[in-house]
Amino acid sequence: MRPVALITTKPGFEPELKKEIESLKIKKKVLWTPFRGLLKVLSYDLSEFLREIEDNKEELKFLFRIIPLERGCKTDLTDIKKAVSSLINEKKGKIENKSFVVRCNRRGSHSFKSEDVEREIGEYILDKFNDLNLKVNLKKWDFKVNIEILQDESYVSVFIDDFRDISVDKNIQNLKNLKKYRERPLNRSERKMQELIEKFPELFSDLNCVVDIGASPGGWTKLLSNLAKKVYAIDTGELKVRKDNIIHIKKRAELINFKEDINEDIDLITNDTNLYPVESILLTLKFVNYLKSGGYIIHTVKAEDYSKKKSSLNEILEILDRRSDIHICKIINLKANTKNELTLILKKV
Ligand SMILES: C[S@@+](CC[C@H](N)C(=O)[O-])C[C@H]1O[C@@H](n2cnc3c(N)ncnc32)[C@H](O)[C@@H]1O
Repeated sequence: MRPVALITTKPGFEPELKKEIESLKIKKKVLWTPFRGLLKVLSYDLSEFLREIEDNKEELKFLFRIIPLERGCKTDLTDIKKAVSSLINEKKGKIENKSFVVRCNRRGSHSFKSEDVEREIGEYILDKFNDLNLKVNLKKWDFKVNIEILQDESYVSVFIDDFRDISVDKNIQNLKNLKKYRERPLNRSERKMQELIEKFPELFSDLNCVVDIGASPGGWTKLLSNLAKKVYAIDTGELKVRKDNIIHIKKRAELINFKEDINEDIDLITNDTNLYPVESILLTLKFVNYLKSGGYIIHTVKAEDYSKKKSSLNEILEILDRRSDIHICKIINLKANTKNELTLILKKV
């Protein structure tokens, strides 16, 4: 399967859209993205997916837009140019003497703007395909070169005639004033914790004191505070959640003085800091001395990039191997993890 489309909805309604698309009867996978209101669909056949959407449009209530994806590549101008070039070559017959526009929707943080990509790719097309006699027309174009950037991955499509992005205006209108009937997650991180709570309820039974390291803006803290008597949320950043049983310690976790700041036995340690993997596990271990035996640890491993995921995990396993008081229960890829992340469930023996 390959990415065939990005689909959008009102932020907060991603789970509903996911469910709706998952109920379609073709083979596909619907994936979360770290971006609000945006999901990615994998399938075998783009045309089949678009036909299925068309046939079921009346039943789909949460779908706002479908952006078909033709080529995927890294977010790198040379790679994007290659993808554009291969698509234009493929559609040469249809686009000769036509006017076009390049549109780029950039999500994530980069050193360039969407307009920079649009300008550079536009110039590249005019230059490389000057035999096709193409013209740029930003308002009245015959075809659109569409570039979707999702941090490190990019997708290119050439929309012409009936093949284009689709908006379901009726849904956009209907959902405009609808308040979310279920509380929206604060962020993607909260989905990781939600998933853990659903899959491993045993980790959360009978919790008195939880220490949440790297807690801001508070997705994990919020859910944990519904399950524990008290949550110590450690982060220099602000918390967007306030409750009587949440104690925000506004410090770097390295600087915590256990006796002064916490001074009670811990039932569960969670760590979702965005530190280097080894730094982060050493931080977790700093708190293990105060964890009750039988207490669990939930720890996110965040590799610098996908290529380092395995080696980062190995480094961590080596460190844990030296700790006879820690048992590794599970190493899992949560649905809400990014591709660079893994989640460890550990237990103090
Ligand atoms: C991905 S966010 C955590 C999101 C959080 N789990 C949630 O659900 O909202 C990572 C956090 O780790 C915090 N962090 C990074 N290094 C830290 C440290 N040494 N001590 C405490 N917090 C740290 C950052 O300030 C950031 O807020």
